[in-house]
Amino acid sequence: MSQKATIEIEGKKYELPVIKGTENELAIDIKTLRSATGGVITIDPGFKNTGSCESAITFLNGEEGILRYRGYSIEELAEKADFLEVAFLLIFGELPTKEQLEKFDTDIKANAHVDEDVKKIIDGFPKAAHPMGVLSSLTSALVAFNPSSVNVDSEEEMYNAIVRIMGKFPVLTAWTYRKHSGLPLDYGDSSLGYVENFIKMMFKKPADEYKSNKVVLDALDKLLILHADHEQNCSTSTVRIVGSSHAGLFVSLSAGINALWGPLHGGANQAVIEMLEAIEEDGGDTKKYMAKAKDKNDPFRLMGFGHRVYKNFDPRAKIIKKSADNVLGDLGIEDPILDIAKGLEKEALEDSYFVDRKLYPNVDFYSGIIYRALGIPTEMFTPMFALGRLPGWIAQWREMRLNKEPIGRPRQIYIGEQKRPFKKIKDR
Ligand code: SDX
Repeated sequence: MSQKATIEIEGKKYELPVIKGTENELAIDIKTLRSATGGVITIDPGFKNTGSCESAITFLNGEEGILRYRGYSIEELAEKADFLEVAFLLIFGELPTKEQLEKFDTDIKANAHVDEDVKKIIDGFPKAAHPMGVLSSLTSALVAFNPSSVNVDSEEEMYNAIVRIMGKFPVLTAWTYRKHSGLPLDYGDSSLGYVENFIKMMFKKPADEYKSNKVVLDALDKLLILHADHEQNCSTSTVRIVGSSHAGLFVSLSAGINALWGPLHGGANQAVIEMLEAIEEDGGDTKKYMAKAKDKNDPFRLMGFGHRVYKNFDPRAKIIKKSADNVLGDLGIEDPILDIAKGLEKEALEDSYFVDRKLYPNVDFYSGIIYRALGIPTEMFTPMFALGRLPGWIAQWREMRLNKEPIGRPRQIYIGEQKRPFKKIKDR
């Protein structure tokens, strides 16, 4: 029997339907609220209590620290799947058969070429340009070279746009890094797998043979899986709302890249390393930074800590922390900031300020330590997050379009001046 919610406004009662998801989450369906009440709306800055959609892609339980892609636990996927398999799962809803995965891989490789004229756009950026700004610009610019990927209505047109961006985005990400590092823009090698090809495009030095490194490949593949989707986070909500105007996939993704750049969101992985390096330079004085994080008059926050949904350990942070130990061990790297990070985590988890607010390490707290060990510069950490999140953004955009969701257009409560007559400048 479907449940109802009753609200009373100015002495009048209204009943609203309550919907239940497959994991027994409940939501009050307010689709009819404004018309039923003659104009009453809800308000919820940051949408902390508001659902934007019903989605079948990713399930989070913040209290229990659960994350599942299409019903599969993140722990199993990180252990047993590879990134391209997970990308297929997120976008199309099922783990691919061998044939499906081979076709997906072949179609992506067939579309991995990036027009040589894109290099002229890259050349226009100063070397010091932040890679996220370059990457979002290049992603938008792709429209000029792939006009048929803009107005995609059929599933086939969507598929073609999807394999195009899945093929080109790793190239744009690698080229962004190489421009930043003063290296020639390397093309990939279609005999390699998706992630290994990306590593080669990133790191192959002009005069050296590319040598595969299984530790680096496994670590990066796992990191990309862990970043692949996270339901309606800030950047995904941006991709969905831009796409809801029927703007094309590439420009919707470009908007998502810009939202991810913010230090409160994906930009936190860069901010965490900068914070840990500052603490190291400050003699490892973690207590000083803990005090700053708790001081309401100090804008400093403990980067990599806290989460809108997780009020328990971020399951991704647990996996990444374990992987950081393994990768540094396998590569024989001693990185003092890993010890600083662990010390900071221990202190925070014993400090009532963090415990009372349920602030735990999130996905960004340890990821940068692995990227650093893999030789990825700090400014490239958030582009790495974007590369991981690409299939999730695509999956969410595709679901929104296939569900024919309406254009996103929130209402507001006006709190400005009431009607007043124009004043001549001499009277102001
Ligand atoms: C990502 O949404 C997603 O799913 C995102 C993501 C994904 O995969 O897409 O998981 C990726 O963005 C992870 C988050 C990365 N950001 C950071 O690590 C930046 C540091 N964290 C915070 O800025 C903060 O925790 C947020 C932005 C992540 C969440 O902020 P909320 O949900 O708006 O919570 P809030 O700001 O209302 O904080 C509640 C309280 C406040 O104190 P009081 O006013 O109650 O006294 O906790 C405090 C905050 O001041 N607080 C922190 C803190 N985070 C929250 N205090 C110190 N350091 C922090 N990191």
